[in-house]
Amino acid sequence: MSASVEADTTLAGSADPASEAAPAQSAERLSFPPGFWWGAATAAYQIEGAAKEDGRTPSIWDTFAATPGKVAGGDTGEEAADHYNRYAQDIALMVELGLDAYRFSVSWPRVQPTGRGSVNDAGAGFYDRLVDELLAANIRPVLTLYHWDLPQELEDAGGWTSRDTAYRFADYAGLVAQRLGDRVELWTTLNEPWCSAFLGYGSGEHAPGRTDPAGALTAAHHLMLGHGLGVQALRSELPATSKVSLVINMTPIRAATASPADREAARRVDGLQNRFFLDPLLRGTYPADVIADTAQFCDWSFVDPWDLPTISAPIDLLGINYYQPTLVRAGTRPAAAPPTAYPGCEDVRFPEQPHPVTAMGWPVDATGLRELLLRLHRDYPGTPLLITENGAAYDDRPTDGAVHDPERVAYLHSHLVAAHEAVAAGVDLRGYFVWSLLDNFEWAWGYGKRFGIVYVDYASQERTWKDSAHWYRDVIRSGGVPRHNEPV
Ligand code: FCB
Repeated sequence: MSASVEADTTLAGSADPASEAAPAQSAERLSFPPGFWWGAATAAYQIEGAAKEDGRTPSIWDTFAATPGKVAGGDTGEEAADHYNRYAQDIALMVELGLDAYRFSVSWPRVQPTGRGSVNDAGAGFYDRLVDELLAANIRPVLTLYHWDLPQELEDAGGWTSRDTAYRFADYAGLVAQRLGDRVELWTTLNEPWCSAFLGYGSGEHAPGRTDPAGALTAAHHLMLGHGLGVQALRSELPATSKVSLVINMTPIRAATASPADREAARRVDGLQNRFFLDPLLRGTYPADVIADTAQFCDWSFVDPWDLPTISAPIDLLGINYYQPTLVRAGTRPAAAPPTAYPGCEDVRFPEQPHPVTAMGWPVDATGLRELLLRLHRDYPGTPLLITENGAAYDDRPTDGAVHDPERVAYLHSHLVAAHEAVAAGVDLRGYFVWSLLDNFEWAWGYGKRFGIVYVDYASQERTWKDSAHWYRDVIRSGGVPRHNEPV
């Protein structure tokens, strides 16, 4: 498939892959619609390293990782997979895999070190080189502006709890668009605002590590406002053919039993996890039940009614990151409730699920992916979807130049089958990006959790294909997954 805009029928908006002539299905293989994008995803802080090169300043993740006890093993993104220096070699891997598209993020403190003012030419130059090399390799660059690495200077000025950060983000979006808009077709404003807001400012598990329930809701709104202002900035700088998107992490919230109390707990958690983001984006309003649920500790005065038309301006695609469903049960609020990622839900319990788990302890349940795609199709119709992340961590070990990871192959297989079922049911799904191309810095878990389909030896920076990379290459070549999980 060509990486040029002209050759793109899938994202052009006129074609509806779900209603196109169904691809020929064979007894052995489930084919995806023609023009479906096969990709892999990464993020700047997780792979680039070069934390102090070419004028880059610390982001909140540099500060957080340098704080004892915040990241497993005291790991930091200082060197990571050294992608900053090895990007050409990594693009060669993508070519061998046969990727149509590569989803990466731009490091804000590399491009605009103080979070304000003009572009740092040396830092931005890296993305010029990366994009040019991708295009030369016929791979579409899919650019995320914010994958969690806020310049520390902006956090010092209030971070996402400050409304001004949304405006700073829009300025940054415009600068990057001026620089790369002639070559990048598909843009994403934010990756997973739920994590930025609720893990960063609610539970404190992620940078900047604050634990303030009302602050987390404030941050979530300012992130969504930043998205809306960012879309405006992008639209004014980009060619009309460019596409703009947001990426959210959805998870189906399932009640442990059909009891009214468990179902009520599921409603509340679903409001904070999913509808908090989907409703303002796609319906132009915050969910009334979420506002009521949180009214005791949060007055919502941070929302100006005029923000909502900004946030709900149409986008061209919605990116969905899916890893696992969430099971909830009603409980009682402990006297000394620990900080939570679901502000106001200190009483809710998250029981174990009856599934095998990955090395993250996350249950493997592909039915959740089909369920959420069908829900979007039913409740929020009209916006084409992309799966922008899906994958699993396992305790991979290299043996004789190979890495056998049958669990990851099984994980990817089951989730692609689920995605295929959704497409067959009419969901307008335009592509799939595996998380991740490379093993990388898995945030608070450090380097101990390996999500890559390519293994990274962090001492030598050597890359080794895992079996899942070979498997994925064959999926891409054939445009579909085997019906049954056997080697292709
Ligand atoms: C997602 C993040 C991504 C990666 C995966 C495992 O929440 O977007 O950076 O860490 O989880």
